[in-house]
Amino acid sequence: LAVSVFQDEHIASKKVARRIADIITSKQEKGENAVLGLATGATPVEVYYELARLHKEEGLSFKNVITFNLDEYYPMNPGAKQSYVRFMDEQLFNHIDIPRENIHIPDGTLKKEEIANYCLEYEKKITEVGGLDLQILGIGRTGHIGFNEPGSAPNSGTRLVTLDDLTRRDASRDFGGKENVPTKAITMGIGTIFKAKEIILMAWSKKKAPIIRKAVEGEISSNVPATFLQLSDNVEFILDEDAASELT
Ligand code: F6R
Repeated sequence: LAVSVFQDEHIASKKVARRIADIITSKQEKGENAVLGLATGATPVEVYYELARLHKEEGLSFKNVITFNLDEYYPMNPGAKQSYVRFMDEQLFNHIDIPRENIHIPDGTLKKEEIANYCLEYEKKITEVGGLDLQILGIGRTGHIGFNEPGSAPNSGTRLVTLDDLTRRDASRDFGGKENVPTKAITMGIGTIFKAKEIILMAWSKKKAPIIRKAVEGEISSNVPATFLQLSDNVEFILDEDAASELT
């Protein structure tokens, strides 16, 4: 696990966007697809903004990019204001030239009995296109990555999970009250994330400092799922000074 600290989230986000652009262009030169694992939430917003700018102003093309998002609330209508489908369209996909059929986001409209099979298919699709070249992550205050809450196993796959109370509280503003936040989500597993060739976890602000300290320096345990990232050499934490402020 490598940790890089930047002065602020603007500089850090540009750095991550540049890394993504480099992967895309080096794959283009080889005539291959770039397979990206994407996250939602506040953390990656500036990365997506910068990628859209690189497309518009510097001609970066996403024609060879295939994406898999980490998670979606369940149940969730893709047209709803809080859906991750809508988030990704507004923050990134509507502003770039990615082919629509290359976009994958867990489906929040499935019937309960369809979920298990759908999750297996999601994993299979990732494998079939050659696996994730890069997975980007945020981190929740519970230590979740994706929606792998405390108790998640290191070898877990894509599945239906129950959201932690703190996660639902943190989402309550988007939903106009915690009681409106779905209790469940479909998420890639920790095992799914681990298969990525490269993983970048980003965190900004003092609010994330305590969980960043636990994730980087704490005992490896399913109580703080992000601690499993300590086990991999392909992981980089990209932090602003505030999020890094409690590291010893
Ligand atoms: C989002 C996701 C979550 C968020 C995390 C942090 O797809 O998987 O793990 O990355 O909850 O959220 P923000 O960035 O809003 O602080």
